[in-house]
Amino acid sequence: MVTFFLLALLFILLLLLNSFPAMCQIGREGEWCLLHASIGISAMHMQLLHNNKVVMFDRTDFGPSNLSLPYGRCRYVPSDNVLKNDCTAHSLLYDTGTNTFRPLMVETDTWCSSGSVLPDGMLVQTGGYNDGDHVVRTLAPCNDESCDWVDFPGYLSERRWYATNQRLPDGRIIIIGGRRQFNYEFYPRNSESSSSFWLEFLRETRDDHENNLYPFVHLLPDGNLFIFANTRAISLDYKQNRVVREFPSITADDPRNYPSSGSSVLLPIDENEPIEAEVMVCGGAPRGAFSRAKQGIFDAASRSCGRIKVTDENPSWAMEDMPMPRVMSDMILLPTGDVVIINGAGSGTAGWEIGQNPVTRPVIYKPHGVEDIRFSVMSPATRPRMYHSSAVLLTDGRVLVGGSNPHPYYNFTGVQYPTDLSLEAYSPPYLRPEYDPIRPRIMNINESFRYMQSFWVTFTVLRFLKLSVVSVRIVAPSFTTHSFGMNQRMVVLKTSELYCVGSEEYRVTAIGPSTAEIAPPGYYLLFVVHAGIPSSGMWMKIQ
Ligand SMILES: *[C@@H]1O[C@H](CO)[C@@H](O)[C@H](O)[C@H]1NC(C)=O
Ligand SMILES: *[C@@H]1O[C@H](CO)[C@@H](O)[C@H](O)[C@H]1NC(C)=O
Ligand SMILES: *[C@@H]1O[C@H](CO)[C@@H](O)[C@H](O)[C@H]1NC(C)=O
Repeated sequence: MVTFFLLALLFILLLLLNSFPAMCQIGREGEWCLLHASIGISAMHMQLLHNNKVVMFDRTDFGPSNLSLPYGRCRYVPSDNVLKNDCTAHSLLYDTGTNTFRPLMVETDTWCSSGSVLPDGMLVQTGGYNDGDHVVRTLAPCNDESCDWVDFPGYLSERRWYATNQRLPDGRIIIIGGRRQFNYEFYPRNSESSSSFWLEFLRETRDDHENNLYPFVHLLPDGNLFIFANTRAISLDYKQNRVVREFPSITADDPRNYPSSGSSVLLPIDENEPIEAEVMVCGGAPRGAFSRAKQGIFDAASRSCGRIKVTDENPSWAMEDMPMPRVMSDMILLPTGDVVIINGAGSGTAGWEIGQNPVTRPVIYKPHGVEDIRFSVMSPATRPRMYHSSAVLLTDGRVLVGGSNPHPYYNFTGVQYPTDLSLEAYSPPYLRPEYDPIRPRIMNINESFRYMQSFWVTFTVLRFLKLSVVSVRIVAPSFTTHSFGMNQRMVVLKTSELYCVGSEEYRVTAIGPSTAEIAPPGYYLLFVVHAGIPSSGMWMKIQ
């Protein structure tokens, strides 16, 4: 009898261990871990909140999901062609600590929308399709089960479907473009009667296939916005509604925005050097690839990446080739300052049924690495992550990956690439246990600080190498959808004295970001990186 109980206990323990994500063996090329075979919805849009919960949502107009709404709730939408009375959820809140999730209620369609987190940590989601295209929805983080979406119908002055958001230095959000929208507006909206501002650049970059949707937007240290659409880029003074600069077009004529979806990041801004800003754009598809794919001819995706130092007097694009062609991938800044390029396809474009050759291997790019060996190819995932897949950085340095819905319905059978409801995490090589002796562990930081304020970060490390290899970085987590991480940015903080304050315990003085243009107010994840190995992140608020 006792033996039986012991065996049963052992069995349960083994089950628990197996289901715990950290138990995946991490090799030199990192490792993939399946967190859930199904969360019931496809993670088309994702945002990590400062309570370590991730908001996810897909669409409300493509049939029943595999997750029921709680308390027998349903939505009745007479205009929905697929399912008028829908008792399933299309949004959820995933708790990264417990690996559990609960359904959320969205009333109207969130398909192909955008989002940003306000300085107080509240998520603001903007637009969508049909009944949802003028709606703003907010979600205030909570640690119990009480929070859900709050809808503000008709809040937006224009339809925002495939628009891009960016947090601004004054705490507002700018919402740029969208399908057939050559303008931008703000949240909270302007008090004046005219709340939308014309942007000719968006009209000019629209081509036969609209290769300028979900433009890549990055806030620059001078306060202007870098906007990339199709193959062109500008710097916009949104306050004066004036284009202050046109950058050269990216070398090679491949469009880089939806449906020829490449991706883009603002490379880390380093406060220890004279302030520079450099944008990177990777992948895309050849001109015309969208219509050829519709006829069943799948062009190889673009293999090239371009980097442009926009703070230079005469900036130009420096081009490099990725190890493989890629469209519909996500670019995520890792705590080390490297960039992971993950998900996507090797041919075709974004859109229904027109991506082929899933690229399952992530690639890690080292911006400061020796040229020609900056890219490293990582372990393959087992699942294709095509159109409508997404990825976000987690607090512990893993990359959360979900979604893939290349059909206008939840098609799980009878299709080449089924709609994917699973959730996975990719652990980059820096999470290997063999690095634990040099991995810093943050003991103590203040929860909030002001611009230019100096503060201490206390951390422990078993085997300290040297001062020159310690950096303190803050990351604004992205709102990721359609291959672009909106609002994603990293600032390497200025650091000075480093003291040993006890056995294996160190204290470094860091200085808060110098301006709100460099780091808009709000929540960031702070990481200490020692000899290329990052700590886990700690949340802090800049105000
Ligand atoms: C959806 O849920 C049903 C019932 O729980 C299950 O049998 C099925 O495998 C699920 N489908 C997917 C794709 O997760
Ligand atoms: C996808 O699912 C929809 C709705 O269930 C169905 O009408 C359609 O035929 C499916 N498509 C394929 C290719 O199986
Ligand atoms: C936290 O902030 C307070 C007040 O600004 C300051 O006195 C204290 O030294 C800070 N602590 C750390 C760990 O930086």
